[in-house]
Amino acid sequence: MKYGHFDDARREYVITQPDTPLPWINYLGCQAYFGIISNTAGGYSFYRDARLRRLTRYRYNNVPLDYGGRYIYLRDNETREFWSPSWQPTQNELQDYACRHGMGYTIIGSTYKGIEAHTRYFVPLDENLEIWQLTVTNHRNTKAVLSAFASIEFCLWDAQDDATNFQRNFNTGQVEVEDGVIYHKTEYRERRNHFAYFACSEPGRFDTQREAFLGRYRGWDRPAAVESGELSNSIAHGWSPIGAHQVNLELAPGESREVIFVLGYHENPVDEKFDPPGSQIIDKRTVKPLIAKYLRREEADAAFEQLRDYWEQTLGVFQVNTPDIHTNRMVNIWNAYQCMATFNMSRSASFYESGIGRGLGFRDSNQDLLGFVHMVPTRARERILDLAATQLPTGGAYHQYQPLTKRGNNDIGGGFNDDPHWLIVGVSAYLKETGDWSILEEPVPYDNETGSEQPLYEHLQRSFRYTLSRLGPHGLPLIGRADWNDCLNLNCFSDTPGQSFQTTTNREGKVAESVFIAGLFVYAGRELAEIAQRRGLAQEASQYRAEAAKMEDVINEHGWDGNWFLRAYDNFGAKIGSNECEEGKIFIESNGFCVLAGIGLEDGKALKAMDAVGENLATKHGIVVQQPAYSKYYLQLGEISSYPPGYKENAGIFCHVNPWVMIGETRLGRGDAAHDYYSRINPSAREEIGDLHRCEPYVYAQMIAGKDAPTFGEAKNSWLTGTAAWNYYAIVQWILGVRTTLNGLQIAPVIPKNWPGFTATRMFRGVTYRISIERKGSGNDIGLTVDGQQIEGSLVPVPTDGRREVGVTGVLR
Ligand code: GLC
Ligand code: GLC
Repeated sequence: MKYGHFDDARREYVITQPDTPLPWINYLGCQAYFGIISNTAGGYSFYRDARLRRLTRYRYNNVPLDYGGRYIYLRDNETREFWSPSWQPTQNELQDYACRHGMGYTIIGSTYKGIEAHTRYFVPLDENLEIWQLTVTNHRNTKAVLSAFASIEFCLWDAQDDATNFQRNFNTGQVEVEDGVIYHKTEYRERRNHFAYFACSEPGRFDTQREAFLGRYRGWDRPAAVESGELSNSIAHGWSPIGAHQVNLELAPGESREVIFVLGYHENPVDEKFDPPGSQIIDKRTVKPLIAKYLRREEADAAFEQLRDYWEQTLGVFQVNTPDIHTNRMVNIWNAYQCMATFNMSRSASFYESGIGRGLGFRDSNQDLLGFVHMVPTRARERILDLAATQLPTGGAYHQYQPLTKRGNNDIGGGFNDDPHWLIVGVSAYLKETGDWSILEEPVPYDNETGSEQPLYEHLQRSFRYTLSRLGPHGLPLIGRADWNDCLNLNCFSDTPGQSFQTTTNREGKVAESVFIAGLFVYAGRELAEIAQRRGLAQEASQYRAEAAKMEDVINEHGWDGNWFLRAYDNFGAKIGSNECEEGKIFIESNGFCVLAGIGLEDGKALKAMDAVGENLATKHGIVVQQPAYSKYYLQLGEISSYPPGYKENAGIFCHVNPWVMIGETRLGRGDAAHDYYSRINPSAREEIGDLHRCEPYVYAQMIAGKDAPTFGEAKNSWLTGTAAWNYYAIVQWILGVRTTLNGLQIAPVIPKNWPGFTATRMFRGVTYRISIERKGSGNDIGLTVDGQQIEGSLVPVPTDGRREVGVTGVLR
């Protein structure tokens, strides 16, 4: 069953039934001020850090689900009936309910008893505020006497503390109301210099104390003040400050009115907090003009148009037209959009990530660049430098850093031995996209220690060498706390309930080795060699190549199981991911990544490995992590065996790593298989099975339950996952084959045999490439013509004569 449909022309997904299997969310904001918003207006907002600067409160895993958000109520003052045009929280039976999730905005509306209302929610570019534009239209043939109410519940900034520290928090809440604007200023009197505000374009009544608005023992579904039709101008002291506005509207038949609400975050310089100085009143001189501006309709509309232009341009960097609608809409719209969300949020705030747990992951954020760097390279550059600054002098990395302080997170620590290599992967993606070699010269500290600055290039060298001094008994890289698979904790041996598998190490870790890291090392080593070569460091480049080749030999000798690549050796030197194992005989990561890295292409191992993955791990809903699933908890394996079979890392379909196999298939020249795997997890292609899949059909989820789970095919943990970047990268750069290289744009498609071809537009280093591929045979041999001239090979030279447009036609045979 479907709960809506794609509107590709408007780049929207239109949800037409409010009770979706799970809240289907969207993100507001794409720079510093963010919000999540569900299809029924649930969600919350924050500034930069979802834990430390939370503007509005949200209760995760609440009953009922997704309760609390940006709620609007309408009240018919003649009948006293009230309802929410977004369905939640009142749940009236609405006509023409529709939620349009678009690029950085969401419009939710419906009609109820002849009154149509919809609200457009968005964050203007470069501002730390969100606009709600409510339009109410009277379709009755009589006058309508209505009140509109808008409400939010403030969070007392630190979302973790807000949800736990009630003995203090029930006493600290403070607001000011001036000229009808509600200012939330809890803790402003002491150490904070920021506040939130909630404003309305029309004069009217307000409430700021939650109990005054909701009434005793009531929820958002029937606030007492809405029921009575009049807010009481309450001023919060302690307890739970909220913001609620009331606007009375009399609409003639056919008449429409627009009301604008603005919710925002503002900082004052520490010595200009109060006005007059010495008082306790917020200095509002810099915020007032901002509020006034966006309460004006022309300004709000103009800001919305700017947002649209921004996305038009951002997505315009790559557009494709293939015979497959699901490919087109994911590549052109939603997958790229999701890459922006993962870049911004890392894994911090979604319906599954509560915003209080995780900072920005080192490996995650580097991988996210693969799908993001072409959209806003300047921000990718900044991110790379931030990440590198958290690197440790050893070349190792803090596993995570906090976005607000940009410092490594001590609680989580480091020692995930794959981490450093992802920096090479991220930087290489940046160089390939931009050709901006200057980044390698940027002085970057280690562990943010002033005085320790070295050029970024040196960070890459240390990343690479990190592994060389951490090799195990077989010469394979030691795994440390874990590698890409956070749950393969071979040195952990945890038998204490509740202990974190990722932060507990009680073995020295001198034995357990990872074949996956070996593959990553080979891959990163060759990328680094190319970079060194281009910088004129031929000798260094050949060293990297030699180290990579040596590791390849070790993989061939100790990392090959006969029909596929082994996964690891455990703390006792026993094999993991071998046919000899009882469970966990074959894993996706080592096979996917080794083949992606080009290992075994010549001697047939790659072919065997991909065939083995196809036979043992592929299902109709995607490729599972391993088989057979672990049926019980193994002390020596860690968290992977803590999950019931079929979920998450224990044989779930981890959508992040499926693209490694897709890329592996393209390296074998098998476009049919690559695109088939791509389609199995493509959310748009799964739209029809919405009741099984359950997550949003417009974005990837981290995991789909594997075949060992009773819920085989059910997705979880949508939005914030490396799946976004890797699938984008696999389809664009390897299947469509429009690939960035250090030397320019390469065109080497490995597409399905039955595709007659495709066309694409790619803006690359200031030049627009118009690409048209035609299939004239069933293979992958490409003949390219560039602006009418046939060229040798698949690399399109960057024009040196100032041309800004290049036409590329390719014939596949
Ligand atoms: C999660 C983590 C990622 C890890 C993966 C596999 O997606 O964010 O870092 O690689 O799980 O465990
Ligand atoms: C759990 C999850 C894994 C995630 C990790 C993050 O181990 O299974 O997917 O990467 O937590 O800490």
